[in-house]
Amino acid sequence: MPEGESSLDRAGRWHESGQSGNMKHVTFCGLGIMNLIDDAISNPDPYYIKSVTEFSASRDVVTSADIYSSTGIKLVAKGTHIDSSFYDKLVRHKLTESPIDRSLSVKDAVTPEDIERDALALLDADTQLSLMADALPNSGVLHNTLAKIHLNDTLAFKLTLARETRPKLYRHSVRVALISLYLGARLKLDAESMITLATAAMFHDLGELHIDPALFEGDRQLEQKERQYIYVHPMIMYLILKEYPEYHPAASEAVLDHHERLDGSGYPRNLEGGSISALSQILAVAEVAGSLCGRVESDACAYVEVVLKLNSSQFRNDLVGFLAAIARQGNTGAAGDVEPDLASIRFGLQKIDRILAAWDAAYLPYRDTESPVYLSYIQTRLTSLRKGLFGAGFNLGGQDAMIQGIEADPVSLSELRLLVRETCWQINGVVYETRRRWPEIAQRAAAADMALNAWAEQVQTLLG
Ligand SMILES: [Fe+2]
Ligand SMILES: [Fe+2]
Repeated sequence: MPEGESSLDRAGRWHESGQSGNMKHVTFCGLGIMNLIDDAISNPDPYYIKSVTEFSASRDVVTSADIYSSTGIKLVAKGTHIDSSFYDKLVRHKLTESPIDRSLSVKDAVTPEDIERDALALLDADTQLSLMADALPNSGVLHNTLAKIHLNDTLAFKLTLARETRPKLYRHSVRVALISLYLGARLKLDAESMITLATAAMFHDLGELHIDPALFEGDRQLEQKERQYIYVHPMIMYLILKEYPEYHPAASEAVLDHHERLDGSGYPRNLEGGSISALSQILAVAEVAGSLCGRVESDACAYVEVVLKLNSSQFRNDLVGFLAAIARQGNTGAAGDVEPDLASIRFGLQKIDRILAAWDAAYLPYRDTESPVYLSYIQTRLTSLRKGLFGAGFNLGGQDAMIQGIEADPVSLSELRLLVRETCWQINGVVYETRRRWPEIAQRAAAADMALNAWAEQVQTLLG
């Protein structure tokens, strides 16, 4: 077996010959990341235990093994029917390193056939997904592949918990799995890779079950510390999944890297280009397209088109092309769920102008010198954003002329509204990512640090 390849033994476990180059040293950068992960999954995993306790009110959850604290105290015996006292019993203790759902079982847990049935219902109800199915010579590959996912007891339990307590998360998983499979089919992946891709897609965000659900609700701006918990969700699920040799290492790798971006702007490993595996790249694009459907409803297709255009340097071009073609077909030209409001579009354009001009002024003293890495990072991200805007027909600095041409055209105005919205989202993203990578800068006062802090503050005031 060549170096870096994987093989399945007779017991159904995956083995690697060495590790693939990319997974040899999985290191997580950032201050205190391992503490955050430890907080989330074993110390003592309060949000997960709370969800399980609530879940037990409607379903019969039974312990399939004894549960011990890290100091060896037996907290709950095997065969116990979980009730409301479960949370109080467990939450005061640091548990053993083994994930708690190894010790839990529930009757009628999610099966691959259930996933297939849910996928068929979603395909029926969703225009974008049905267009994808129609574009394939064999649309059955989408739901058939989902029926072939392997679910061990632990992962079946986790998925059941997601379906019953976080239905939005479960629906997102199925949607992203279908989009991933559509892309995989367009790339003519072999059957085994398709199953690995579907597996990664179904599990990619289940790490969120270990994080305070309040962080995912509403539109409130999160504090940097709260945001750190969101950044660790791919690592949590990666660490859980790689405990099980029956899952192909490429599946856990794709879970870990589903927020990485080709231009190096993603997380958690800050990978770029070819160091991101093919399956991870597919999952990343599918994840973005799937998430947008949750962010807007009736004009989702138009939004997907805008976002992909704007972020073309972050994703594989061929994958973007496959999705953009679907988005164009689904974009009926309807104005969407919100009437385009000229005044708010104008206001958004002015804010973008001010933010970009403020950045240019802040960066000017460093333009021809060797600037600190965090300033270069922002400059690169904003240059790429400007290129994307230019490519999308956005006339930076000439907004009045841009609006004059389309004032009476609701479809163009609607697209412009989405473009403004996404640009603001992207700029906020640049600030969050800079804070994640270089958290210490917020406390420092050298000239370059102050330049960044003042600009970030301005972004927050205008867009926050
Ligand atoms: Fe995610
Ligand atoms: Fe996701």
